[in-house]
Amino acid sequence: MWSSSPKIAAGDTVVVWMTRDSIQPLVVAPGKDLNSKYGNYRHADFVGVPYGSKIASRTGQGFLYLLRPTPELWTLALPHRTQILYIADIAFITSRLNIKPGARVIEAGTGSGSFTHSVARSIGDSGHLWSYEFHEARANKAREEFLRHGMTDTVTLTHRNVCRDGFTVDNIVDAVFLDLPAPWDAIDHAKKTLRKDRITRICCFSPCMEQVLRTVSALNDAGFTEITMYETLLRPHEVSQIPQLQSIGHVSQKLKEAEKRREEKRLRQIANNKARLNTTTTLTKRKRDDPLDNNDNDNDYSTEHDLPPSEAKRVKSSETEAVDKDEMMIKVDDDDTTTHNRGGSTLPVSKQSRISVSNALPDVRGHTSYLTFAVLVPLLSTPPHEDEMAEQQPSGSG
Ligand SMILES: C[S@@+](CC[C@H](N)C(=O)[O-])C[C@H]1O[C@@H](n2cnc3c(N)ncnc32)[C@H](O)[C@@H]1O
Repeated sequence: MWSSSPKIAAGDTVVVWMTRDSIQPLVVAPGKDLNSKYGNYRHADFVGVPYGSKIASRTGQGFLYLLRPTPELWTLALPHRTQILYIADIAFITSRLNIKPGARVIEAGTGSGSFTHSVARSIGDSGHLWSYEFHEARANKAREEFLRHGMTDTVTLTHRNVCRDGFTVDNIVDAVFLDLPAPWDAIDHAKKTLRKDRITRICCFSPCMEQVLRTVSALNDAGFTEITMYETLLRPHEVSQIPQLQSIGHVSQKLKEAEKRREEKRLRQIANNKARLNTTTTLTKRKRDDPLDNNDNDNDYSTEHDLPPSEAKRVKSSETEAVDKDEMMIKVDDDDTTTHNRGGSTLPVSKQSRISVSNALPDVRGHTSYLTFAVLVPLLSTPPHEDEMAEQQPSGSG
């Protein structure tokens, strides 16, 4: 599959990676240009550069990477002609169907060939994949791609309605994968293709539960066992950088210092208020002794608690302000600290050094389909294959 040369040659298929959301396949054809919002490039400039190179646009205002295709990259880059399978499902199906080098596999329908590329790599040159597609234009397009990607020795593509006409091979394959709107119509045909000298496996990929129920019934009726349904979900993680957390000792020391500063400030503030109060009392006394002032409502306030409400409020608010300023001072003093909410508690952290953390995003990426697996066990009269016991997978628990 694809070129294994270290350098790109004319006619090679490359995966052009512009951004995570902009990945496309390209057949290098000197004489042609690639124009995108990430710049203009000449295919001729791609020839001879190593796979994986970063290429600057002709104006120098953009860049892209030229990657060697892999089945994973192909799934991200391929032209969609249908819904496709993505890597999480492909990996799980490949594992549960025990698809490995040398395996013989059937898939229907071919669709956009996403699953086909992965299986072709897994089975290698010693295995074989029979792929079926009843939409003629899609089948032709897929055939062209498989030829260009050097897969034709491994993959046989047939234009055919498998539900009506069945498959082209009998009693030979190790695993069948059905990605069809009505897989139950193909299950009896699939059973004929599976070899009967060892345990074989089937998987049906269906987007809704009604299809799963019909598939399960058909599998039961056809004599399959260990029928198990799975749903594969992806939980993305977001990696970000946060400041390094301080040690508990450091944090405790900082808190003690801040507490001490606050207490000193408070005592200073009380002393100031007392001094101001003495001045106020002297003035009031003078006023009372003044024969010209006969306002009977004036009182003699001896402590800060005896101040008239307006004065008490002013003193109180200046004290609070002082404490608030003190809090601010703590923050200013601790300029190397900030807060980071971690697991519900707020911890002081340093801005100096940063660490990477990974947070699971709360939304789990949407369901693509349900995967119904089943096993076909050889009849007792058939002698078991010698590898069979060694290769049996543990039965599913799901
Ligand atoms: C969802 S697509 C398969 C996508 C494919 N698994 C991939 O990863 O790219 C389903 C394909 O099955 C084909 N199909 C539907 N019914 C079929 C049938 N009875 N026989 C063969 N192909 C069929 C459709 O034309 C379509 O291309």
